[in-house]
Parts: sequence; C-alpha cells; structure tokens
Amino acid sequence: MKKIDIHIVGLGNLGSAFLNGLNDLDTNIYLYEDSNVVRQSMQKSYSITPEEYLTAINDGVLLLCIKPQNINQFFITNKDKIGKDVLICTPVAGLEIKTIQKYFGNNILRIMPNLLIHDKTGFIPFTSNYQGDYLNFIHNVLKNLGTVKEVDESMFPIVTALSGSGPAWFYELSNQLVNSGTELGLSLEDSELIIKELVKALPALVDKDETFKDLVNKVKSPGGTTEAGLNSLNDDSFDTIILNAIRKATQRSTEISKELTNE
Ligand SMILES: NC(=O)c1ccc[n+]([C@@H]2O[C@H](COP(=O)([O-])OP(=O)(O)OC[C@H]3O[C@@H](n4cnc5c(N)ncnc54)[C@H](OP(=O)(O)O)[C@@H]3O)[C@@H](O)[C@H]2O)c1
Repeated sequence: MKKIDIHIVGLGNLGSAFLNGLNDLDTNIYLYEDSNVVRQSMQKSYSITPEEYLTAINDGVLLLCIKPQNINQFFITNKDKIGKDVLICTPVAGLEIKTIQKYFGNNILRIMPNLLIHDKTGFIPFTSNYQGDYLNFIHNVLKNLGTVKEVDESMFPIVTALSGSGPAWFYELSNQLVNSGTELGLSLEDSELIIKELVKALPALVDKDETFKDLVNKVKSPGGTTEAGLNSLNDDSFDTIILNAIRKATQRSTEISKELTNE
C-alpha cells in the first residue's frame, strides 16, 4: 500500500507537536514554514529542512498548522497549488468548513487537537464534509496520536475551549498552586517540585468509570484539610470563575469564525 503523504504547513507549537507524534509512523512527511529561525531549528532537532513555500501537491493530506489570521492569505496565495484529491485537514481555531469551501471543493476534515498529540495522548475531536474515512487518515494516522471522536461542527467552539485550550487551564491552576505554596513559605523550587510530581501522578488515578465529582468526594474527609479548602473554593465561587473563563474562550472561538468568514 502506498504511504500517505502528509504536508504540514506551520511548525510552531501545534505543527511541531504533530511532527513529533507522527515521527515513527510509516508516512511521508513534508514540511513548510515561513520563519527562517524555525526552519533552522527543525534542521537541528529532526534533521529535516522545511521548505519556505508550499509546492504543488496533488494527493495526500495538507495539515494546516498556521494561525487563524494567516489562513485566508494562505488560501489566496496557494489556491492553485492544491489539487482536488488532497484532503485538507484543519486544526485552525474558528476556521469553519464553509469558509474553506469558498476556496476549495476538496474533502475537508476539521479537527481540534490539543498539544498532547506530541506524546500520542491527545484528544482529537473531528468533523468533515464527506462520508467515511477518506485516505484512512483518521484510522491510520490520527488514531495513533490519541483518542479520536466525531462531534457536530456547532460544538467546535466549546470543544476548542475545553480541549484545544485545555492544557492552559491545568497549567494556570498549577501555576496558582505553586504561587500559593511560595506565598505561605515554601521555596519556589519545592513548590514547583510538589505540584509537578502531583500533576505527573494524577493520570494514573483517573478512572474511566468515576466522574471527577466522584474523585473529589473520594479525597475529602469530613472536617479534614481538603474539605476546608474545597469549602473555601465554593465560598469564593470557583465554579463561576471557571465557567466565565470557558465561556470567554468559547465566545472568542465564535468571534474568530465570524472574522474569518467575513474576510
Ligand atoms: N497551540 C495549540 O495548542 C493549538 C491547539 C489546537 C489548535 N491550534 C491551532 O493551530 C494553529 C497553529 O497554532 P500554533 O500555536 O502552533 O501557532 P504558532 O506557534 O504561531 O505556529 C505557526 C507557525 O506557522 C508559521 N507560518 C505562518 N504562515 C505560514 C505560511 N504561509 N507558510 C508556512 N508557515 C507559516 C509561523 O511562522 P511566523 O511566526 O513567521 O508567521 C509559525 O512558525 C492555529 O490556527 C491554532 O488555532 C493550536
């Protein structure tokens, strides 16, 4: 069977996470990156020199890992280089399938992975404008990078906020825990170490059959230290703080969609 060609455009956070996750798969990888600094660093890390500009491609997958603000210009510049059989795969936040269809009649796969694809533990929601698994890309490629799940495109803004931005919520919570540790007398080094060890150990304790609510209930005992802290979170409306943040991120995703559609 012919190896699938995967053309990754943009090698920032997400493009390089894809590159790392795909490293040991039997695919042909082609890279494109307009920053000279990034091209050179790719050469050092992966011994591959990305091209600066997309060359004409007639098959395989075009994986667009560039920022929303660069996408319409990319389509305008490269429209004639992308053949009709190419699968256009986009993780670009807010970029709707209908916006891409203004430029291309191709099969389009919209995904919203998070950076954990770097270590093949990502979550990859997807939706597409075609039936089945064109080029077996979902089964043969994406499933190797994490858990894959089809979701309705109307749910992409909330999925983007929860999953695409998801690592940031946990990093910021961890950052605030570290700050609390130092505020109450620990050294920065010890506080970082404690929280890093905690975050690394937690996945093993997350059970598929238990909800997070169950897990919270399991670790608190009546009148204990954890319960005292949880009560304080409750008194300070932690639920509202989180809901507002996710609402803002969801709204921003919807705004970006509107901006991209109107460009
Ligand atoms: N980061 C995440 O966790 C995440 C998660 C889900 C989805 N996404 C989506 O993935 C996309 C990329 O995000 P990112 O965080 O990886 O951004 P990033 O770190 O800024 O990387 C984008 C890279 O693409 C380069 N680039 C821009 N235009 C190009 C072009 N025409 N040809 C080749 N290279 C080009 C940029 O170079 P210059 O800096 O020189 O322009 C930059 O190095 C975004 O649309 C984002 O919505 C990201």
